[in-house]
Amino acid sequence: MNSKQKASHTGSVDARPRSLEMTVLVTPNMANFGGKMHGGDVLKILDQVAYTCATRYCGQYAVTLSVYRVLFKHPIYIGELLRFLARVNYTGRTSMEVGIKVIAENIKKESVRHTNTCYFTMVALDEDGKAVPVPPLSLRSDTDRQRFAAAQARRTARLHFKHPPPQGVESTHGA
Ligand SMILES: CC(C)(COP(=O)(O)OP(=O)(O)OC[C@H]1O[C@@H](n2cnc3c(N)ncnc32)[C@H](O)[C@@H]1OP(=O)(O)O)[C@@H](O)C(=O)NCCC(=O)NCCS
Repeated sequence: MNSKQKASHTGSVDARPRSLEMTVLVTPNMANFGGKMHGGDVLKILDQVAYTCATRYCGQYAVTLSVYRVLFKHPIYIGELLRFLARVNYTGRTSMEVGIKVIAENIKKESVRHTNTCYFTMVALDEDGKAVPVPPLSLRSDTDRQRFAAAQARRTARLHFKHPPPQGVESTHGA
């Protein structure tokens, strides 16, 4: 990419690409022992989508810190087309939340179903592996603000596990 092309991404925070769509055909090498798509393959593609969306947005290498709510509620069949719709929902100082909606399409019947939505927290790193600031996300619509607030609530819940409040004498467990 030459410097002129790169400038279109880096001009302003608003110009940064915050969403991404990737499509993958589910091929026989992705089958589990039951003949449907292997969960590990779904996770691997989700991680690639999250990486691509986050890195494109911040312009830095990004790693996965956490994944929230991967639920294999419905099987995905070999031969289906999977669409991954990803978007940066939230930015902190160095972290980003990428929400990913997964749509499976039966290409013969032309039917589609929403199989899963999950949330990846990605952290931008410099060449020494140190977390670095990301461009703050501009919130342009009510939907942007709702997604940001929901991501913030998930982050607060995660940080609660990182720094749990001190254990008191009273406990709600085992009562
Ligand atoms: C991601 C990583 C670099 C973060 O390291 P760290 O020492 O926690 O870095 P920092 O303390 O600077 O935190 C970086 C960001 O992560 C957030 N974070 C760290 N731990 C967190 C937790 N438990 N819950 C929520 N957010 C957390 C911090 O709040 C910060 O975000 P912010 O700047 O937007 O506020 C480090 O954990 C790592 O290298 N993990 C392995 C990544 C990897 O290999 N992924 C592939 C999975 S197999």
